[in-house]
Amino acid sequence: MNSSFRQPVRGMRDFLPNEAEKLRFIENTARRLAELYGYDEVITPIIEHYDLLAAKIGEENRKRMYVFEDLGGRKVALRPEFTASIARLVSTKLLSVPKPIKLFSVGSLYRYDEPQMGRYREFWQANYELVGSNRPEADAEVLGLTCDFLETLGIKGYTIKVNHVGILRGILGCEGILEEGQNAIMQLLDDKEWDKALRLAREYGASSKCLETLERIFGIRGERREVIMKIMIETVEDYPKALDSISNLDEIISFVEDSGLDAKFYFEAGFARGLEYYTGIIFEAYVPELGIAIGGGGRYDKLIELFSGVEVPAVGVALGMDRIMLAMEKQGISPSRAPDYKVLVVPVEESIISKALKISFALRRSGIKTEMEVMRRGLSRSLSDASKKGITHVVIVGRKEIGEGKVVLRNMRDKVQEEVSIEELSSKIKH
Ligand code: HAM
Repeated sequence: MNSSFRQPVRGMRDFLPNEAEKLRFIENTARRLAELYGYDEVITPIIEHYDLLAAKIGEENRKRMYVFEDLGGRKVALRPEFTASIARLVSTKLLSVPKPIKLFSVGSLYRYDEPQMGRYREFWQANYELVGSNRPEADAEVLGLTCDFLETLGIKGYTIKVNHVGILRGILGCEGILEEGQNAIMQLLDDKEWDKALRLAREYGASSKCLETLERIFGIRGERREVIMKIMIETVEDYPKALDSISNLDEIISFVEDSGLDAKFYFEAGFARGLEYYTGIIFEAYVPELGIAIGGGGRYDKLIELFSGVEVPAVGVALGMDRIMLAMEKQGISPSRAPDYKVLVVPVEESIISKALKISFALRRSGIKTEMEVMRRGLSRSLSDASKKGITHVVIVGRKEIGEGKVVLRNMRDKVQEEVSIEELSSKIKH
């Protein structure tokens, strides 16, 4: 038999205990932040109808979906993101709920991407969607939450790359290029294929003035808001919708800059994202140690309408947990935990196993992480394995001591041991 099944399927991976701990640490931080910002958690299925997921995901992402027919003949797919599922949920079950609706989700997603460092076919996101407001303060809050998330984890030197899809769509729309053509051009920009994008715009009938404007737009980038805004405004002065988008972007970023957060923005007027549902600001978060985005999001005011017929604006962000884990490793950040005690209870002979079990259950009930020696190893072997496993205390249960209502408590850090009464055991460990 072929032995390839000994490895996970290409692009999938196992999380060993120390990796799973890091991932769950990020997840717990994400959940705590959701509570602080008033986002309620929802859990949606991993398998959804293909048509829902494919609707506005963009050509490149669509090609990378895991699509199959289930036994009932339905064309289904593994979710490549949360946003379409959330839009479905809002459209069908939450339309009458008072706005804004703030929803948090966390879980695994699937894209048939080419595996490489930080790019997997199964990956994890913490996702936040703010539904019901089209105001710039809603965008600012989602951007602020993104910064807060990264700062709470201790991530240093991050940058948020921003743009507004209304700038490019405003220019292309003015030239009579329809949404489909605009999408094809934006896909090329997402791959940084500026020349190809210009060629395609020409094929769709863009005037030479428009092509010149686009070429200049693609070159506009930098950190200083006022400077970049001024250049952008001068460049698109004949395109009213593009001008409105610039002023919207300016307003959102000023809100965040004035909020006291430590956010560093990088403006790039030719930046686009592969997902097609965006209608306003778009952004991605980066750290210097990784060349790939650790999070991304933006405003999408038409997606929920597509499913419900009702106009419902929304903005959201997804943080890539696998990449954040990598960024933390590269920056030497480890999950910080409160001082923790980990106890191993070792009965020194068979006749007192039940007493040792009883002590283990009692310790756990008092909130102490406790393992029981279940392999009947001798004391010296148990002690040496305990040190390797990070056990802080060993409770040695001997026949003589148990007869007096006592056990021997060994502190593994300083190697000191003492007789302790069973009633006092948990408080002795904790103090
Ligand atoms: P996205 O940019 O496609 O946006 O994904 C968000 C983040 O997920 C990325 O920045 C990256 O960190 C992580 N990610 C994506 N693909 C992979 C992969 N193959 N391996 C590892 N990590 C990956 C969205 O998914 C939108 N739904 C975000 C959003 C929410 N927009 C509005 N609301």
